[in-house]
Amino acid sequence: MTGPAAPGGAATVEGEPQVEGTQIAQAGERRIDWAARAMPVLQALGTRFAAERPLDGVRIAACLHVTAETAVLMGALKAGGADIALAASNPLSTQDDVAAALAGYGIAVHAKAGVDRDTYYRHIHAALDIAPEIVLDDGCDLVNTLHTERVELLPGVSGGCEETTTGIIRLRQMAAEQALRFPMVAVNDTRTKRMFDNRYGTGQSTLDGIMRATNTLLAGKTVVVAGFGYCGRGVAERAKGLGARVIVTEIDPVKALDALLQGYEVRPMSAAAETGDVFVTVTGNRDVIRGEHLERMKDGAILANAGHFDVEVDVRALESLALTVNPAVRPSTDEYVLADGRRLLLLAEGRLVNLTAAEGHPAAVMDMSFSAQALAITWLARERATLAPGVYDVPAEIDAEVARLKLAAASVEIDTLTATQEDYLHSWRAGS
Ligand code: ADE
Repeated sequence: MTGPAAPGGAATVEGEPQVEGTQIAQAGERRIDWAARAMPVLQALGTRFAAERPLDGVRIAACLHVTAETAVLMGALKAGGADIALAASNPLSTQDDVAAALAGYGIAVHAKAGVDRDTYYRHIHAALDIAPEIVLDDGCDLVNTLHTERVELLPGVSGGCEETTTGIIRLRQMAAEQALRFPMVAVNDTRTKRMFDNRYGTGQSTLDGIMRATNTLLAGKTVVVAGFGYCGRGVAERAKGLGARVIVTEIDPVKALDALLQGYEVRPMSAAAETGDVFVTVTGNRDVIRGEHLERMKDGAILANAGHFDVEVDVRALESLALTVNPAVRPSTDEYVLADGRRLLLLAEGRLVNLTAAEGHPAAVMDMSFSAQALAITWLARERATLAPGVYDVPAEIDAEVARLKLAAASVEIDTLTATQEDYLHSWRAGS
């Protein structure tokens, strides 16, 4: 775990000599600077926040992937006056150099790559020790821990934001059972998040992870994409673009029809299992690839998960089918050898392949999601006294503002409605 800032701004890293820790932090700073170049909207918001201080003195506990892009978000919130403690939202996705650099910027970071489950939760508890007024979550583990193990802190929490689809599903369930004790803003559901981060971000970074891990040629391969939400659509599009034949599996008939009309083959997993070379799960549900599917797969099949939790591929079933496991035959790649000699390759232990085997979504898309996140937090900080517990949409103006700023940063102009067009849109009397 990263320690507090040492004199001179250098961070110390648990178990590392000071000099090495300083070098790690410097590498993290370079990585953050690089990400920031592709995040003009978030940087502009940081400048605005520094002048307006919309979060002055607000204590925030965040549970996010500790990446360079997250560091840029933390910088903007800190510029706005927030006091922040950050834990990782996944035990494998932490970029240790970034964590070290962040500690040097005065943010309490509780994260280290590769920690076990107990340490992962210990870090979430440590972030909660800040006694947050506002929480930021990615997957709902922090909110869940607050409601189950840190209930004494609940009266002090006035609201939070959730970053991802899986977290929103859990929150809506909590709200339906009247268990949610404060307002949570569904940042995931903004158009600027779903249309770009889920689709282009997950699409590119998932294939990036698979390629970094295996260096496999995707042209001519059969890629099976389980789940055709925004993320699955992104993965399918990118795989197709690289020359793969794509099969989609779905349980929702409308999404399945959408996939079919977009030109993909649609099959049940039991059939796709026999022909797939690469399998990617992006459903948000568990046991999408089970023992019965694993038994049918070809020698050399690659299994990757891009859903938030490591439950989509039944790793226990894989373990019990395998006679031998050859760990790390390639980076992030474990080989499971079955009784008949077939080898199945599991990437990133079944965890988020894009953040474990690659670096997560590119900064240019995180610019939009984290700008929506930053504006949603300031909205929440203003409105929190008026909001009852529940799940809230991000106000539509925030979406429009993020998109406008992103277009401006790209020097792209768009049309505006004429007065006549405005009237036309608001008049029901006008006919053909
Ligand atoms: N989720 C997906 N990609 C990410 C990134 N680069 N940083 C933080 N969270 C992410």
